[in-house]
Amino acid sequence: MCGITAFRGTTAAATRARTALERLEYRGYDSAGIAARRPDGTTLHERTVRGVAALAAAVGPAETDATTAAVGHTRWATHGAVTAQNAHPIEDCGGRVFVVHNGIVENAEALRTELRAAGHRFATEVDSEVIAHLIEQALRPGVDLGDALVAARDRLEGSWAVVVLDARSGEIAGTAHASPLICAETGDGVYLASDVGAVVGEVAAFRVLEDDDVVEVGGAGPRWHRHDHSTRPRGLWPVPRTALLGSTGRHDDHMGNEIDEQPAVARRVVDALSPGIADGRLWKGLGLPPLDGVDRVCVVGCGTSLHAGQAIAGVFERLAALPTRALVASEAVHDLWEPRTLVIAISQSGETADVLRALDRLPARRGPVLALTNSTSSSLARRSDAVIDCLAGPEVGVAATKTFVAQVLTGVCVALSGVCASGRADAARFDADLRALVAAPEALRAAVEEWREPSAALAAEFATASGFLFLGRGSGLVYAAEGALKLKELSYRWAEHQPAGELKHGPLALVDAGTPVFVVDNGDPRLDVDIAEVTARGGRIVRIGERVLTVGGSAVHLPRSGPSWGPLDGVVPLQMFARELALRLGRNVDKPRNLAKSVTVS
Ligand code: AGP
Ligand code: GLU
Repeated sequence: MCGITAFRGTTAAATRARTALERLEYRGYDSAGIAARRPDGTTLHERTVRGVAALAAAVGPAETDATTAAVGHTRWATHGAVTAQNAHPIEDCGGRVFVVHNGIVENAEALRTELRAAGHRFATEVDSEVIAHLIEQALRPGVDLGDALVAARDRLEGSWAVVVLDARSGEIAGTAHASPLICAETGDGVYLASDVGAVVGEVAAFRVLEDDDVVEVGGAGPRWHRHDHSTRPRGLWPVPRTALLGSTGRHDDHMGNEIDEQPAVARRVVDALSPGIADGRLWKGLGLPPLDGVDRVCVVGCGTSLHAGQAIAGVFERLAALPTRALVASEAVHDLWEPRTLVIAISQSGETADVLRALDRLPARRGPVLALTNSTSSSLARRSDAVIDCLAGPEVGVAATKTFVAQVLTGVCVALSGVCASGRADAARFDADLRALVAAPEALRAAVEEWREPSAALAAEFATASGFLFLGRGSGLVYAAEGALKLKELSYRWAEHQPAGELKHGPLALVDAGTPVFVVDNGDPRLDVDIAEVTARGGRIVRIGERVLTVGGSAVHLPRSGPSWGPLDGVVPLQMFARELALRLGRNVDKPRNLAKSVTVS
């Protein structure tokens, strides 16, 4: 899930490849590097483990502006330690070929042995290095760069987006297989990049390489090849509005701002989509079959997106009594798919390889696939039967926050509309859900305001806690799961979520004096017993979402029956707490260690 950029044009190639790289750093930030051809024919090659900004510090504009062809890379390591030596671009033995790669070469070890025997010297531990040597081997006189790339590609197993710079000729060429790569032309050159975000503001439209397409960028415009024949360029996609980068607002980090934006995002989704619920227009407009035509709903996703899917599934299950299944995309198995299944594939980026691979395994005879994504031009959107934009706007923080809220509410609107269109809903429950949907933006606003100070105080209280439990029942459980995920990825502390009733079957042994136990309250009265079991052992309960009224000086807990998708506003304090604790511990909340925003390896 690295970020790849490349530019060939009349001027400033390395400057443009590097600037584009800054916009892709969310895809991986273990290391960064750039290679470019100088006008005198020598090569600029700079790599660092200190981030893309360090590249700009190491190589000034005077030098990068003079270049006419460049490739850049920001890495999320799969093979080989995080060192400058292992950073891309990776060169061949002769310093002519410079390769940037996103993906995994599964037969790298066998190729490495073969290439070593043929006399190639390896300088890195990275699987990608075999690509550089394979191209070097193929790049004999009379063989052009595109053909050499094809020869190398034909030896690879696995997944790749590869761009190669021939530092001798200044040509670049790229190819992709199960990994995204786009091509965009400006007035004075051509970009290749992993993601349209790289070229926002530079171009109005872009093309996407399909599996095994090859694009060569030499003197004139890009030349496309498919199955070894010249082919017409692929169709043009407009650069989406959501590709524009967000700001940090009143915070020093994007995540803080993205948490604060959630009420506005919720308002945008509800205003845009709720008018299409009561008459089923939203559902029908997506071209989806009536719910009576499907026997079950399967949500597929990873991490936070899977949690959003589980929340949405609650609407089909609790309101329409339609069986649902939540499938961890990386665990999807071909023969588990049943016919007449509506598949809802959820991915913020739309580029998550595990999700795309799960869809690839769908049998030919199956139900429709609805993609719920924040990028309507993504790989996921392009291979689904229907697409709905979750309208979150750009999210920069690696930890998903506002996209989660947007996904849940978008999916809920679609589900409610489908239930309505098929007449499956219990009227009273449907009305209650609709009221909760309309109230969601305000509930989120109140949560953001209410929890700002308490979340900081809790972070101070739990600064030295080594482990955390998150509990919930029924519709609250998925929010407990999301709270635990946020805490792990941001603070690097251990956190686990459990159905509250399971506590007594084992996890209760973890509870000691002061152990932090967060409980997501969805109004289930049995939570009181679960909480009593924790407090009896000295555990410290933080109850999220309880409604308390003070009557005559004593607290009265109000019953609360949440909507079918559970207590969405309860996620706000969990996000805020995770962020506050991480900041207190000196973590980079926008770029947690070992992670990346878009996971394009499976
Ligand atoms: C969320 O905080 C995580 N960074 C991660 O779990 C993420 O939700 C997951 O990788 C899925 O990404 P996607 O939505 O782009 O498919
Ligand atoms: N396998 C390559 C490496 O470890 C690329 C990794 C990736 O695409 O995430 O550098």
